[in-house]
Amino acid sequence: MILQTFNLSKFFEGLRALDGVSISVPREALTLIIGPNGSGKTTFINTITGFYRADEGRVEYEGRDITNLPPHRVFREGIVRTFQIPRPFKKLTVLENMLMPLNNPGEHIRNAFVKKWVDFESESVEKAYDILEFLNISHLTFEKSETLSGGQLRLLEIGKALMTDAKLIVMDEPLAGVAPALAHEILRKIKELCETGKTFLIVEHRLDIILDYADRVYVMGNGKVIAEGGKEVIEKPEVVEVYLGA
Ligand SMILES: Nc1ncnc2c1ncn2[C@@H]1O[C@H](COP(=O)(O)OP(=O)(O)O)[C@@H](O)[C@H]1O
Ligand SMILES: [Mg+2]
Repeated sequence: MILQTFNLSKFFEGLRALDGVSISVPREALTLIIGPNGSGKTTFINTITGFYRADEGRVEYEGRDITNLPPHRVFREGIVRTFQIPRPFKKLTVLENMLMPLNNPGEHIRNAFVKKWVDFESESVEKAYDILEFLNISHLTFEKSETLSGGQLRLLEIGKALMTDAKLIVMDEPLAGVAPALAHEILRKIKELCETGKTFLIVEHRLDIILDYADRVYVMGNGKVIAEGGKEVIEKPEVVEVYLGA
């Protein structure tokens, strides 16, 4: 397992948004977390990536305790996340967005004054080109990000995540606002990436599209894991019930 949580909890003034959640994320696979609105999916992501402090429980990455490390430290451990609403720098081109480091902009700017910068830069540009080509958006390389469609923005998010060397990519609703054909393409790319050493933990609402791609599924309801297993879990009565009740 690349990531494990043990009885992870997060409370908001009496609301048990996360209530003793234990999840295991297998290496080089797509693990899917589903559940109705308000079931705690985003809170889970925020808590494992350091955006929220856990009130109880533990998070382990590669066997190391990373509970409550701040986001930049979690990133340095090898976990990168995308957000429910993509936030590219709209006035920058796709390429410029790809080159925006996700960890420490200050360091990046300081590097600019070092001679080595030039090599670093051209290497990064080459890496960015390769990734944009892999994602089939190389024709957008010099377009301003504000001109991209919802689906293209999601691909840019994945591209930025791939620019880092993070092994675990955590995504919050990457298919929101993406047309079905492109959504399937994104998922096929994600599965390809799993074969090259990346691991994906994805929270998603659109079960119709994503379920077939998932290697492991966790279902959340009211802050708890209510079912886990293969894609057949959605047929369990407790899962049907939590969706009907939502
Ligand atoms: N920062 C916060 N402050 C207070 N309540 C929050 C906060 N974040 C999430 N919640 C609450 O926690 C519950 C779970 O929310 P969330 O994790 O966003 O659910 P999901 O992503 O599954 O839709 C909701 O009741 C939500 O209102
Ligand atoms: Mg959410």
